[in-house]
Amino acid sequence: MAPALLLLVLVLSVSSAPDASVAQSDIGYISAVISESGLAFAKDLLVERAIDSLIPLRLHDIEKSVHIPLIGWVHMRAANITLSSIDVSSSTVKPGESGIVIVASGATASLSFDWSYSYSSWLIPIEISDKGRAFVQVEGMEVGLTMTMDRKNGTLELAVAQCGCYMENLVITLDGGASWFYQGYMNKHKPIFCHVLFQFVYAFANHIQIAVEDAITQKIVEGAQKLDSLLQTLPKKIDVDKVSALNVTFVNDPILTNSSLELDIKGLFISSDKTYAHNYLHKMSKLSYTCYGEQKMLSISLDEAVLNSASVIYFQAGLLHWMVDKIPQQSLLNTASWKYLIPQLYKKYPNDDMVLNMSVTSPPDVWIISQKLGAVAFLDMTVIVLDGDARTPVACISMVVNVSGAVTISGNNLAGQVGLDDFTLSLKWSDVGKFHMSLIQGVVRVFLNTVFLPYVNLQLRQGFPLPIIKGFTLQNANILTTSSVMVVCSDLVFNKSISLFSSF
Ligand SMILES: *[C@@H]1O[C@H](CO)[C@@H](O)[C@H](O)[C@H]1NC(C)=O
Ligand SMILES: *[C@@H]1O[C@H](CO)[C@@H](O)[C@H](O)[C@H]1NC(C)=O
Ligand SMILES: *[C@@H]1O[C@H](CO)[C@@H](O)[C@H](O)[C@H]1NC(C)=O
Ligand SMILES: *[C@@H]1O[C@H](CO)[C@@H](O)[C@H](O)[C@H]1NC(C)=O
Ligand SMILES: *[C@@H]1O[C@H](CO)[C@@H](O)[C@H](O)[C@H]1NC(C)=O
Ligand SMILES: *[C@@H]1O[C@H](CO)[C@@H](O)[C@H](O)[C@H]1NC(C)=O
Ligand SMILES: *[C@@H]1O[C@H](CO)[C@@H](O)[C@H](O)[C@H]1NC(C)=O
Repeated sequence: MAPALLLLVLVLSVSSAPDASVAQSDIGYISAVISESGLAFAKDLLVERAIDSLIPLRLHDIEKSVHIPLIGWVHMRAANITLSSIDVSSSTVKPGESGIVIVASGATASLSFDWSYSYSSWLIPIEISDKGRAFVQVEGMEVGLTMTMDRKNGTLELAVAQCGCYMENLVITLDGGASWFYQGYMNKHKPIFCHVLFQFVYAFANHIQIAVEDAITQKIVEGAQKLDSLLQTLPKKIDVDKVSALNVTFVNDPILTNSSLELDIKGLFISSDKTYAHNYLHKMSKLSYTCYGEQKMLSISLDEAVLNSASVIYFQAGLLHWMVDKIPQQSLLNTASWKYLIPQLYKKYPNDDMVLNMSVTSPPDVWIISQKLGAVAFLDMTVIVLDGDARTPVACISMVVNVSGAVTISGNNLAGQVGLDDFTLSLKWSDVGKFHMSLIQGVVRVFLNTVFLPYVNLQLRQGFPLPIIKGFTLQNANILTTSSVMVVCSDLVFNKSISLFSSF
């Protein structure tokens, strides 16, 4: 499936001020609002991924010559500097004017490196050297990232506005070599090599701190660029089935409030083979509804135009007609059953089987009102008599069928089930004389309930995919409906075995 709500994940991001030059906005029919808890969920996921991608981090070696009184120049080296763990105790995400700000604070990190030094001085004319391993504990580390998100060419563009890493304290413990000597004797005797080690720690702490801060910052910026290129590759449509796809092109710049991020996509069904194009001129007052009172991570609002666009695509693709040759009460598909009700039919075609050609004559009109969703379909039912090899249409009955029902969530699909509300019949033409519609009302009702609706419900049960990125699944979803809009309020779970960075 697919990724329009990739954003969910990437929500590092934000809307900046609309770019007047290109921000030509369009009407979106599906809108997703990621709430504070949704942003926090995405942030946690990102922080986790960021740490995974950082560790282990190998930094460039550091070499330095330090002048030490009484000794002279000492060559010092820190090699194989490896960041082996980061522990983030708390992190926050906050939409702000300049972008979404993610801050990880109170973090700790562990590093290790190989230390070595060498010198020769006038005091001791041979070269002195020593080496060992060092362990570094970083405390009070803070990492901040501010990102902006804009719409560009129908997809989203992510940019790092600011990124910084700051460390409060660095404790370096030397191990190996003559370091044992240095540990306890620091203050008292300070033999020359202790002095050197002291200088080592003193001279390198700052360097290592800056190197680690820079490396973390650079890695995070690289990670953000990776996310940005993923966003650029997001498809602009999601295939639904052989004939239709959902246009998930972003139509507005992301909208940021102080606690949420809103993304608007076109959201209309389009034909897979692009043969048909259609336009909607729609009233649409407000699309994005939040799930009042419900602390869900995500709300997806769908205008009824989405469902109507599907209706148009399936109609134009010629899928809304059926030949019916089997019904529960099969005898009704033989002229003999109509001997008394429609005498001419039996007289002309005695004891012949019949089939029904059901054909929807215009795209069914779908509507959404408070608590309910429904549709009106206009159908022609042509009665065809099978007489040997001949198929003779004998009458055509026009029907207006009203159905309504409820929408459900099945996985990440929006599905539904409808029941029959009402129908009307009128005789369009007949070669077997005029007959009154009340004669066949009962039979048609049985037919609609036992053949037509089960068929429709079978299709509706599969539903169509909501634009949710791979790896995420809706959880505890509720559906609210209001005038012309349906809102899916849901939490999300993420399947950790799917890599955010590889699979699109
Ligand atoms: C560098 O340090 C890492 C982590 O301590 C260690 O696994 C690795 O073997 C070291 N590499 C070399 C070349 O010493
Ligand atoms: C816009 O996106 C389309 C694909 O959807 C691509 O073919 C085109 O090159 C892009 N245009 C720009 C300016 O990036
Ligand atoms: C999808 O929607 C966008 C925005 O309205 C539109 O520019 C684009 O042509 C649509 N794509 C298709 C295939 O209809
Ligand atoms: C967000 O903004 C609304 C008004 O736009 C305000 O009522 C609310 O207190 C703000 N919330 C926070 C957490 O700043
Ligand atoms: C069924 O009816 C439709 C519309 O009335 C017609 O276009 C179609 O050809 C008919 N199909 C058959 C097999 O008679
Ligand atoms: C069925 O649909 C028709 C056409 O929209 C409408 O006039 C009629 O009132 C509807 N009937 C019910 C019971 O909703
Ligand atoms: C997570 O994804 C893996 C690989 O696609 C799949 O095998 C597994 O069943 C998924 N787990 C859940 C809980 O959906």
